[in-house]
Amino acid sequence: MLYSSAIENYYMGHLIFTLFDFSRMHEIIAYRGADTFRTNYFRAFEKYFGRMRSIRKKYSLMGAITLLFSAGAIVFSMLLSGNVGVVGSAILSFIYLQSAIVELVNAISNYDIYVVRPYSELLRFQNLKSPEQGNVRSISGTSPYSVCFEDVHFSYPDGKEVLKGVSFRIRNGERVAIVGDNGAGKTTLMKLILRLYDPTSGSVRIFGVPVQEWDVDALRRIISVSFQDFGKFNFPLRDNITFAFSRYGDDEERLRRAMEMGKVDFLSPDAMIGKIYGGVALSAGQWQRIAVARGFFRMDGETRIVLIDEPTENLDPVSEYEIFRTIMEYSEGRTLILITHRLWSVKDTDRILVMQDGRVVEEGNHDELLKLNGHYARMWRKQLEKYGLS
Ligand SMILES: Nc1ncnc2c1ncn2[C@@H]1O[C@H](COP(=O)(O)OP(=O)(O)OP(=O)(O)O)[C@@H](O)[C@H]1O
Ligand SMILES: [Mg+2]
Repeated sequence: MLYSSAIENYYMGHLIFTLFDFSRMHEIIAYRGADTFRTNYFRAFEKYFGRMRSIRKKYSLMGAITLLFSAGAIVFSMLLSGNVGVVGSAILSFIYLQSAIVELVNAISNYDIYVVRPYSELLRFQNLKSPEQGNVRSISGTSPYSVCFEDVHFSYPDGKEVLKGVSFRIRNGERVAIVGDNGAGKTTLMKLILRLYDPTSGSVRIFGVPVQEWDVDALRRIISVSFQDFGKFNFPLRDNITFAFSRYGDDEERLRRAMEMGKVDFLSPDAMIGKIYGGVALSAGQWQRIAVARGFFRMDGETRIVLIDEPTENLDPVSEYEIFRTIMEYSEGRTLILITHRLWSVKDTDRILVMQDGRVVEEGNHDELLKLNGHYARMWRKQLEKYGLS
């Protein structure tokens, strides 16, 4: 009983720690995933609270009996006053009384650790705030471009400039790859599209409307996203994929399809992930497939933009090939922005943007970029060399 309670207590702490972990924040916000934490927290909290209540009851009962016994002993000693045994009895009674009080104080102070503190942490969940937002709730007008960056500069709060004047336009339904060096700013572009940050200067427009004018929930609803540094959450598999996406949280058919598309064929939906919590441990590639399924799960008739950041980093070659094929197939008719280091996979996209040090330095399709013989051509040759194909 105590062991199970300790695990539940630890799990609640883990949920809080993960939810307030800055490096996970963007994914949780983009998926509106705080509810998943809340639900799992409530589940663990209810179990834990139930156990603790029965343990506390026992302790309090023992304390109360000891207290009554000690008080009785003191009264008895008083009645015998004048007898030589009175001092000895009083001392004995005092010791009983003291231990009873210690027991009760312990029960009350532990109540704080076991109940009050987790509960007040729980209340903090209610205080998550949304960013200031506009009120555009759907695509209107006839902008031919789904995503437009105009001279966008951006620095993270620590001050270093990461995007140094980025401009590009992506047509509605176009499939674009973004490639480039580590740290060039590819993932940052994606965070600006999702309005996890606002640009320092310049503008980001989605279907002709500046992101600040969008209602953020509506904006994120038309975007399906898979993150590069996705979270590995100790939830049951289904929560790891559906992520409390409330409109479809109970849609078993949608879950099954997302699992199929991400090739998540190694676990049942209710399997718990996380060894310490009685679940299973997964390999890097298995986690990657879950992350891909997470993105696919969110695609529906409203999805107009598919953002996928490095979906195959840890995958074996067959899974990598199949997942790229699935991405191309399911993004048909939507705007696809695929960020990847696997250059062979971008050959089939309509256009490739090449980024270097916060700027788009080249753009064109695969053949045009090879002819240009610039940064893309260099990266392509390197990749061929790496696989012994040059
Ligand atoms: N949250 C952050 N706070 C401060 N700096 C950040 C943050 N995230 C990224 N950076 C910095 O911004 C720069 C661009 O990072 P970004 O993640 O956009 O690169 P990337 O092109 O996606 O690289 P990779 O190919 O490695 O994924 C890097 O120098 C990085 O250190
Ligand atoms: Mg990146």
